[in-house]
Amino acid sequence: MRLIICDDLAALNKAGADEIAAVVGAKPTAAVVVATGKSPMGIYAELSTRSARGQFDATNLRVFQLDEYFGLADDDNRSLFAWMDRDFIQPLRVPLQNVVRLKSDRLAWRENCRAYDEAVKAAGGFDLAVLGIGTNGHLGYNEPGSHAHSPTRALLLSEQSMDASAGYGWSRKEVPLFAITCGMQPLLTARLIVLVVSGAHKREILTKALYGPIGPEVPASYLQTAGNVVVICDRAAAPEQALEAAATTQKKPQAPAVHRGVKADLVLGVDGGNSKTVAVVAQRNGKVLGYGRGGVGDMYGATPGGAMHAIDTAVQAALQMADVGGAAVGSASYSLAGCDWPEDQQLLTQLLSERGHALKLQVVNDSVGALRAGSPRGWGVAIACGSWSAIVGRARGKSAWIVCPWQPSAGGGGLAREALEAVYKANLGLAPRTVLTDRLLRFFNAEDVTGIVHQFTKREGPHPQAIQRLAPQVLDCAAEGDAAACRIVFKQAEDLAQVALSMARQVDIDRKEFPLVLTGGIFKHRSRLLPDAIAANVRAHAPKVQVLRSDLEPVAGAVMLAIELAGIRCDTRLRARLRNSMPDSSFFAT
Ligand code: PGA
Repeated sequence: MRLIICDDLAALNKAGADEIAAVVGAKPTAAVVVATGKSPMGIYAELSTRSARGQFDATNLRVFQLDEYFGLADDDNRSLFAWMDRDFIQPLRVPLQNVVRLKSDRLAWRENCRAYDEAVKAAGGFDLAVLGIGTNGHLGYNEPGSHAHSPTRALLLSEQSMDASAGYGWSRKEVPLFAITCGMQPLLTARLIVLVVSGAHKREILTKALYGPIGPEVPASYLQTAGNVVVICDRAAAPEQALEAAATTQKKPQAPAVHRGVKADLVLGVDGGNSKTVAVVAQRNGKVLGYGRGGVGDMYGATPGGAMHAIDTAVQAALQMADVGGAAVGSASYSLAGCDWPEDQQLLTQLLSERGHALKLQVVNDSVGALRAGSPRGWGVAIACGSWSAIVGRARGKSAWIVCPWQPSAGGGGLAREALEAVYKANLGLAPRTVLTDRLLRFFNAEDVTGIVHQFTKREGPHPQAIQRLAPQVLDCAAEGDAAACRIVFKQAEDLAQVALSMARQVDIDRKEFPLVLTGGIFKHRSRLLPDAIAANVRAHAPKVQVLRSDLEPVAGAVMLAIELAGIRCDTRLRARLRNSMPDSSFFAT
């Protein structure tokens, strides 16, 4: 069990959002059960903000309702489903077909509870449960008296719960007598339970739940027996024992990271980005022994703490799979989006040294790992093109690299934005008609182009996000010969080629033979139009360029950098061994 004590509500909301984002980042289709009540509302608001900025995507989640008052009509304003709909489902754009509702009709409630438990089972159990705690120790509406194995069912509400419900916007008289609740059994077996607690009125019960005897009098005490629990609370709610423990640890000088032994002959490579983080543990001859995934590893996309959590999750899974859980490896290379400036590299190096994953470590921008993966000897220029783009140059035999300090409007996001503009202009008669119009109408599920504009500019409700998913459609239309789509693709090719040439000039390799690596999801599209056009543009100014498509995932580059950090050269045999032992492509899918 981890206990996170936050100084204020803003920190609590952020910490909660980071925990949820880490789970969802690692598994976008996670099955989650989410509480209503006052405790998690700020966390949901924080997630909505991230979602509106395109930093959090809940659209593939499978969401389960936690509890419901008994016998309410669908439109009753006391309905907890309506609350969850307003504060979670709608702002996070979870499609309703992904939501499992806990229906409380008077006649069919038994069947409904059974069907709910079946649905949880069919989903493989909950990946995540986000819960509050009642002042009587309930979880959901598992009131005192509930055992650890209790299924989803209806039960009589306690006086204390009814008093608390009266604070939700209706009078005490209006609070229903009964509720149905997701049972303790499915909750306690969730792969991660995040318990959110704030306010001095919760301190006593939280203390009992975390440190008191385990039993049905305080159902939340069963959390002490659950596998993976994070309790996030503010200072007012934090048990004395926890505050004292935190104060003692803070006073202690920074202790070196504790690990169970060192496996100096192993290396660790980590690739952290805006949709996922992957870690690979390998032998120094390139043979992969373990791998794992975590959420957003870019500290700009998440927070430094969130990124560390994502990296830890991926690394621990990889170490466990390699059967060296808890040990430190000889060397590690972290290739991270968001390692953009010297101060980023300094902070990340400090934070990652504290993790104690490796005796020796190096932190680089993620495009450097991508270049190492794609270029036979680790130097040259790489264009990494995914949701966004990054371009890096590195001279032969030099350890320093140069990354383009700004992002040309490229990658999936750039293609999508240009496509939108082409469609808007065609609609106004300012540009020729394009087949992109039909594709975009379908993508945004809009009746006409004005409907798309409205989705982006309306005053209320969330705006479309993850528009980079449109990119394959733009590439399809260009491959079919649509003039507007071709113009967009050729323009992007020209922009990327110009920046790549500038990087090559800055590291002084542009007049020699140099490798140009094309890497990232955009180049995996079946149409060759974009890579061919980039190659042609670069070749026009640097005729000796060798254009290469990376045959290795970027994390393999991080592994090679870690091997080189251990003083070993990566030859072609090592490269082949690494390629043959890497996880298959489904592991890297986003
Ligand atoms: P609250 O309720 O978040 O509104 O305090 C928690 C609970 O009763 O489970």
